[in-house]
Amino acid sequence: MPHSLKDVLPVTARLRDDGHLEVGGCDLVALAAEYGTPLYVFDEETFRSRARAYRGAYSAPGDRVYYAAKAFTSLAVFRMAVEEGLGVDVCTGGELHAALTANVPPDEMIFHGNNKSDAELETAVGARVGRIAVDSLDELERLARICAAAGVVQRIVLRCTPGVEAHTHEYIQTGQEDTKFGMSIESGAALEAAKRSKDLPSVDLVGAHAHIGSQIFGPEAFGKLVEIMCEFVADVRSATGIELRELNLGGGLGIAYTKEETPADVGTHARFMREALAREAAEHDLAPPALSVEPGRWIVGNAMLTVYSVGVVKDLPGIRTYVSVDGGMSDNIRPMLYGARYSALVANKANEASDKVVTVAGSHCESGDVLIRDVALPSSIGRGDLLAIAATGAYGYAMASNYNKMPRPPVVLVGAGRSEVIVRRETYDDLIRLDER
Ligand code: LLP
Repeated sequence: MPHSLKDVLPVTARLRDDGHLEVGGCDLVALAAEYGTPLYVFDEETFRSRARAYRGAYSAPGDRVYYAAKAFTSLAVFRMAVEEGLGVDVCTGGELHAALTANVPPDEMIFHGNNKSDAELETAVGARVGRIAVDSLDELERLARICAAAGVVQRIVLRCTPGVEAHTHEYIQTGQEDTKFGMSIESGAALEAAKRSKDLPSVDLVGAHAHIGSQIFGPEAFGKLVEIMCEFVADVRSATGIELRELNLGGGLGIAYTKEETPADVGTHARFMREALAREAAEHDLAPPALSVEPGRWIVGNAMLTVYSVGVVKDLPGIRTYVSVDGGMSDNIRPMLYGARYSALVANKANEASDKVVTVAGSHCESGDVLIRDVALPSSIGRGDLLAIAATGAYGYAMASNYNKMPRPPVVLVGAGRSEVIVRRETYDDLIRLDER
């Protein structure tokens, strides 16, 4: 295994003497033979150790770590998150349903969404979800009515727009003023919601929430966020007498996709947040609120990789070499949607030098279906080789589609030399199961 990919691959990745790449004690070549390709491989140890690292970094009394289900989830993964002491962030009725089915304790859930329906709110309230992140005044009024009718006092946090711009892709920036999410602090909308909730006996306002974006490395934007949020907490206290006990700073910590990137360290990051919080709280004469966070990508991103079979290799002299694999934009839309860069290895030739620059394309009927442009791989690459693309855990399967009627690949959990399907491969019949005539 090239040492340079240490931060990108699962923690258990190892190069075997026969040149095969191994993850979780399982030879990827043997996994591909057993389960077919394309195949998502989920390394239990990476997921659990990263969940534990987060839990350890936010372990002061009242702190909470909610795993952001949107990054990737399945019933088995929900259970692992709970076993590691995490709560769960869900943002649709569907995610809520899956989390409840996996027996995630409702009190350990937070329910997000900028456009929650009455039906979704009723289900969440009925299930006794621990926190609802209220995203608008409209939602606050509807939620209060639903809670009153159900005879429930629901704990809420206010989703605030802090006006902080994080340096990441425009599509995954969320903290700026021009956004569909949350209520603006600057315009006074968030404070208005705090005042209004005071008059609504069926809601208990316990905290403030903000999420500034995803795949963020530097602490600067988070420092600014803590500053703005503490000021907001102080403003809420002056205006309403309510002292918010929880500050939820969302997710967003960045991971390494290529050897050029250095992953953020959760311990350092958490210390930074806590110091900023202590400073800013003192500034406003507040007892520092407990911290909540909602990591998705940082926990699951590097825990998974995708294994494909190489098919046609097309050499266009003077232009480029296309190496086509048996998946593509249906199992990983991120390169096309966000211009995301990935790293690849040939899983059955991981000991060979990467001496040829090629472009890895998928099998979809679309020329934009390119997984990695210009990546160095062994020049011997050809039909039947197994290409592993690393760090596909976050927003890979979660955003997968059936474009061109491609069945979604299975997810195989690996650990201690054992493997187990946790999400089965879709069949061709699955692809037509919803058609009524
Ligand atoms: N909390 C809230 C309120 C969020 O909206 C998100 C992500 C998270 C937590 C988790 O963020 P993370 O720790 O995973 O960065 N599909 C895009 C990412 C969209 C993120 C949406 N919200 C991608 O593939 O990069």
